[in-house]
Amino acid sequence: MNVNELLSLKGKVILITGGTGLYGRPMFEALAEAGGKVITASRSLESAKQVFPELQNAGLDVHAMQVDQADHDSVLKLKNDIVKQFGGLDVFVNNAVARPMRKYADPLEAFTESMRINATGMFDITREMADVIAQSGGGTIINIASMQGMFGADFSLYEGTEMDSPPDYHFHKGGMITLTKYLARKLAPKKVRVNCISPGGLYGGQPETFIQKYAKKVPAGRMAGPDDIKGVVVFLASDASAYINGENILMDGGMHA
Ligand SMILES: NC(=O)c1ccc[n+]([C@@H]2O[C@H](COP(=O)([O-])OP(=O)(O)OC[C@H]3O[C@@H](n4cnc5c(N)ncnc54)[C@H](O)[C@@H]3O)[C@@H](O)[C@H]2O)c1
Repeated sequence: MNVNELLSLKGKVILITGGTGLYGRPMFEALAEAGGKVITASRSLESAKQVFPELQNAGLDVHAMQVDQADHDSVLKLKNDIVKQFGGLDVFVNNAVARPMRKYADPLEAFTESMRINATGMFDITREMADVIAQSGGGTIINIASMQGMFGADFSLYEGTEMDSPPDYHFHKGGMITLTKYLARKLAPKKVRVNCISPGGLYGGQPETFIQKYAKKVPAGRMAGPDDIKGVVVFLASDASAYINGENILMDGGMHA
């Protein structure tokens, strides 16, 4: 088959959670630019409405729905709405994250809240969307983890700033990477592939001292930009990656090479 056809997402119905966020937006765009019919779902429809005119003017087939992934009824409603409106689902990009914990010393309640959304809720929406994909004849799930789910934090990066690398984040992102491998085996009989992307830090809004220190640690000499994730998510969503399953792609500019 021609490689452009293999990489095309034409005819695929794709759901991305948090598709208007920092990494979500370029993935949302890329999946639609590659020909997909792409739905973003997050807690607020308002943020979707802000980016829609630009995307629709560019001729992209984009849609918005509402979900709170920490609320089982809301996840089931999204599942039903997708089936009703689109007839099924081919690809799920599991991208949403909540950050209730900011620092190591934050109260335990912040850790518990993080698990409610980023562990239990994340698993719930993954299992329900896997079910729709299986019923639609098969497809793929792409989990968005983080390099921080693979490695301990480099705390020297945060010196001289108010920033920290919170422990819940390392915990649930590490879990997501292992869950990817579990689900790849569990869902293979249903023709659902499950892969993961572990990005490094995306440039934008960090203190200058952090940005400079970070850039020095990366062979690429910079933080990630929005275009860096576009190709890898389209590849994993497409039939070009049909023989890749249970994989975690580290996208860190060579930081851990
Ligand atoms: N930004 C980075 O530097 C970076 C680095 C590595 C990995 N990542 C990963 O990339 C993904 C996107 O990160 P981001 O920085 O773009 O995040 P972001 O904070 O910009 O966006 C997160 C999105 O998740 C949604 N969300 C939060 N709680 C939700 C819930 N309960 N139900 C439904 N939606 C919910 C929010 O509404 C928002 O749209 C995350 O999985 C994150 O861990 C980000």
